Amino acid sequence: MRKPIAFPHVEGQASRQAHTALPPGTYERELGKEGFFGPATHMYHRHPPTGWSAWEGPLRPRAFDLAKLNSAEDSPWDAPVVLSNASVSLRFWRAPETMDHLARNADGDQLLFVHQGAGDLFCDYGRLAFRAGDYIVLPRSTMWRLECREPVSALLIEATNGGYQLPDKGLVGPHAIFDPAMLEMPAIDEAFLAQQSEESWRVRIKRRGAVSTVTYPFNPLDAVGWKGDLAPVRINVADIRPLMSHRYHLPPSAHTTFVGNRFVVCTFVPRPFESDPDALKVPFFHNNDDYDEVIFYHAGDFFSRDNIHPGMMTYHPCGFTHGPHPKALTKMFEQSKPATDEYAVMIDTRDALEVGELPAGVEWDGYVDSWKAAAE
Ligand SMILES: [Fe+2]
Repeated sequence: MRKPIAFPHVEGQASRQAHTALPPGTYERELGKEGFFGPATHMYHRHPPTGWSAWEGPLRPRAFDLAKLNSAEDSPWDAPVVLSNASVSLRFWRAPETMDHLARNADGDQLLFVHQGAGDLFCDYGRLAFRAGDYIVLPRSTMWRLECREPVSALLIEATNGGYQLPDKGLVGPHAIFDPAMLEMPAIDEAFLAQQSEESWRVRIKRRGAVSTVTYPFNPLDAVGWKGDLAPVRINVADIRPLMSHRYHLPPSAHTTFVGNRFVVCTFVPRPFESDPDALKVPFFHNNDDYDEVIFYHAGDFFSRDNIHPGMMTYHPCGFTHGPHPKALTKMFEQSKPATDEYAVMIDTRDALEVGELPAGVEWDGYVDSWKAAAE
């Protein structure tokens, strides 16, 4: 039998209800374990905890402008790996207009987040139309290809040696945030049947990071039907109905969309700001002490971040405190806008991530200094 060492305790000046009614002139910091689910303390500081004046050494917040990755790769397996560890890998891919081969990932379930563009996915299971803002979960070893009607760029999130599940929605029940009935599946439709042919097709299979090519003298996407409970599924960010409280700034974990093995994928979508005068209106400062945090900015105006535009990715490794940028901080308790206008994908990983090799200019070297005005 194991039990956490738990002892809610109030010391000095503190709010008893997190994220509300902060002691005057203070900045709240959450020190939390287990990705906002474990033991936590809220600390009330005289200065913003991001008010560092110098930073040396290998640990640091990083930001990447993936919009600057211009090279289109025919194969998703040639797209650059931005961040990875043993459980997850993140690539950013500019897809060609039409793939001349099929892709198959034998290393794990593949999540595609469509950042830009639209088209059709053809796979073992049929045809699935897609557009910007779609998540498409492709079960491990599904054969697939894209036909793009508009230029497509996508974030590829591989659940290495694992798969994706939906989060337990607990108190709010299974139909909240999105109803699983909203998930769409590929169809064996006319367009799918029309692409079946006796022409030769190659399948580029990724296994243990290495790619093998298998050639068929026909198109192996030749199913005429299927039945079962394993198939790709699609959901758009516009179909996500976020949880919110007008009196309490909910933690990012309330926005969990998919759960992988040792990582989660969360989605931030527009939602009304908290209206209670005592409630914090911006994310609280925090160190998420067991997780590395990644955010990919998809669309909109990122209310807690200065100088961030769509296509950028920030990486906050475990070990330091972060929170709102200076411009947002001035609005800690102000109601300046009725709602957020942002779409972003967050990937929180239980294990440390490695940064991949990226072309010069993709990383924003000054990101560590981007909170500096807070100390002035
Ligand atoms: Fe964070």
